Amino acid sequence: MGIQITPSILNADFAALGAEVARIPGADWVHVDVMDNHFVPNLTFGPTMVEALSKTTDVPLDAHLMIEDADDNALAYVEAGCGSVTFHVEATKAPVRLAREIRSHGARAAMALKPATPIEPYEDLLAELDMVLVMTVEPGFGGQNFLDLCLPKIRRARAMLDQQGIETWLQVDGGVSLETIGRCAEAGADVFVAGSAVYSADDPDLMISRLRATAETAAPHL
Ligand code: DX5
Ligand code: ZN
Repeated sequence: MGIQITPSILNADFAALGAEVARIPGADWVHVDVMDNHFVPNLTFGPTMVEALSKTTDVPLDAHLMIEDADDNALAYVEAGCGSVTFHVEATKAPVRLAREIRSHGARAAMALKPATPIEPYEDLLAELDMVLVMTVEPGFGGQNFLDLCLPKIRRARAMLDQQGIETWLQVDGGVSLETIGRCAEAGADVFVAGSAVYSADDPDLMISRLRATAETAAPHL
């Protein structure tokens, strides 16, 4: 699949989200951060807003659910038009069942891990997933500093995926910028969320191209 760039709209202008998404036609996905003020100390939007946004763009939506009750609420985001739905492993009682439900309703299923959550217990689940998200900040806010301590987990995740010979994508989210994306790509990530780096740029679409080129240079094998 190669390198994919998925800008997060968390730091975009919430009063003009349709127009903000129209500024990033070069994105592979639009990353929508759903926060419930319980799983994380921040509140964004729900499925109604996501469905409205999905109707404004041809770029597929990548929902990142930072909500406590993922088992009961994830399918609403498939129905809202998201092409990919990511739940947190810390917020689900039954990750295999949830991943299968998301897939059976026609979306890609992904599982996220907070920085302190190890990947090893989930090694045998990886084939059930279309993507694994290794968070590189504590989830909740855009604009935080990248946590280098997550790089070994990215490397271990890449080794597991390669060893199993599966096509599951490996996404990173948090503090991804021109300065840090190369380290993530070198460690084996292939899908990159970038929020403030893209939306603080004068030309967000040009920033996507620059991030992509930097990642490709760091990891020409991906
Ligand atoms: C953080 C969110 C991220 C965030 C990324 O909890 O999941 O998607 O918007 O923003 P930056 O790239 O600014 O860290
Ligand atoms: Zn996110």
